[in-house]
Amino acid sequence: MSTLAGCGGGEGGSEGGSDDGKITLGFSQVGAESGWRTANTKSIQESAAAAGIDLKFSDAQGKQENQITAIRSFITQKVDVIAFSPVVTSGWDAVLKEAKDADIPVILTDRAVDSQDTSLYESFLGSDFKVEGQKAGEWLVKEYEGKSDPVNIVELQGTTGSAPALDRQSGFAEAIAKNPNLKIVKTQTGDFKRADGKTVMETFLQSTPDIDVLYAHNDDMGLGAIEAIEAAGKKPGTDIKIITVDAVKDGMTALADGKINFIVECSPLLGPQLMDIAKKVHAGETVEKRILTEETTFTQEQAKTELPNRKY
Ligand code: AHR
Repeated sequence: MSTLAGCGGGEGGSEGGSDDGKITLGFSQVGAESGWRTANTKSIQESAAAAGIDLKFSDAQGKQENQITAIRSFITQKVDVIAFSPVVTSGWDAVLKEAKDADIPVILTDRAVDSQDTSLYESFLGSDFKVEGQKAGEWLVKEYEGKSDPVNIVELQGTTGSAPALDRQSGFAEAIAKNPNLKIVKTQTGDFKRADGKTVMETFLQSTPDIDVLYAHNDDMGLGAIEAIEAAGKKPGTDIKIITVDAVKDGMTALADGKINFIVECSPLLGPQLMDIAKKVHAGETVEKRILTEETTFTQEQAKTELPNRKY
């Protein structure tokens, strides 16, 4: 495996595809913004090694322009297959067209693009983020069933313009619309990062004294917010109910400890399926256009049972 940091330029090892018979996969990762992302990177790197695939890995450090540069570099290097997890949904058509013109198949991993021309990629492997948002909202609707007081919700959104932020927001909003007492009073991005989750929650707590619920689009932002809530003298999970998405070990620990109330799972373990798809598209086989990840949800009691088996 070769690793390209940042712009993913041409410094990443041997030219071209398979002079040793191995498939070369160019992968452009979003960055290292969360525990989920770290687990996802590990899954992809380990699975490539296990599958005998030569992985050219590029870290975009959260920037779309770095991903575009990396993809162009993969095209120049004539890799066999390109996969990437798009930072944001829009602005991919030109570079995807370049890959298509170069006859290099592209696999979307984890996150979607909004390109109308779906022939620009072979397959999209990942979660249904809208369903994740709906599951979060449905839990809250049940939690407040039969109660008539207004419920003030603050929302920590993921990276602006990213598929998980857009879909987790809309899925949640749709689900809580069933109970008009449930109101989102503040919503702001925390960029899927723990530090940002903390600072944004601090400002929420200052401007809105009567917060009942926090919905964070991932565990890391929720964990940062917990620090802010505790520093403000409140009890996370009790004074403020907390719902997050991902179910990484740190999140599950906070759930088992009663500091989070409900987690919607989003699995980062996409590596084995990605390698399988890469082999198939390289062999010219038809693959499913949309491959959904199987996921569940966790209550505090379920987290206690699941925690010892958690792999990430
Ligand atoms: O795209 C998946 C999301 O990206 C995860 O939920 C979040 O933790 C990550 O940064």
